[in-house]
Amino acid sequence: MRKRLLSQKIEKALNAQMTREADAAQFYLSVGSWAEVQGFEGIATFLYGHVQEERGHMMKLLKFINQRGGHGKVEPLAKAPADPKTLKELFEWVLTHEMENSRQINAIVDMCLREKDYPTFNFLQWFVAEQLEEEALATKLLDKMSVIGEDKGNKGGLYEFDQDIAGMHDAEQSRGADPS
Ligand code: FEO
Repeated sequence: MRKRLLSQKIEKALNAQMTREADAAQFYLSVGSWAEVQGFEGIATFLYGHVQEERGHMMKLLKFINQRGGHGKVEPLAKAPADPKTLKELFEWVLTHEMENSRQINAIVDMCLREKDYPTFNFLQWFVAEQLEEEALATKLLDKMSVIGEDKGNKGGLYEFDQDIAGMHDAEQSRGADPS
């Protein structure tokens, strides 16, 4: 019989986080598709790259739960959001989404400390560091959108941004963001 090394409470919390990462992949897929049909191929490439990252996060959690004697459960996914009205709105959603994800991860970290589950606490440090990067990136993108002034019809600026962001995706890949 496999030895259970996770409390039921922590296993449940990790499973819920695994589903949130899968939901995040759906979110990025949905907004990436919207960006692509608007003609923003660079932004779409960046967002599709994030789909793979979120799936990597999901797999990382599933493997950990199973290795610790639990069961990584695949649950139904949330409905993808309606399409954003503007690129600025899209990047606002990205930032809100990542901040909420950080909040959820931090709550599990806190739970691990209270339960003295140090292996899971240690495992989650990777996610804490990752969220720091993701929030910083989302903030930077939103700042760039404000500078460009999408609402002022700055088409040249948007074109340049679209080109730049594809490069950001390459940079993210090379820093080894995908843990799978
Ligand atoms: Fe898995 Fe974007 O956090």
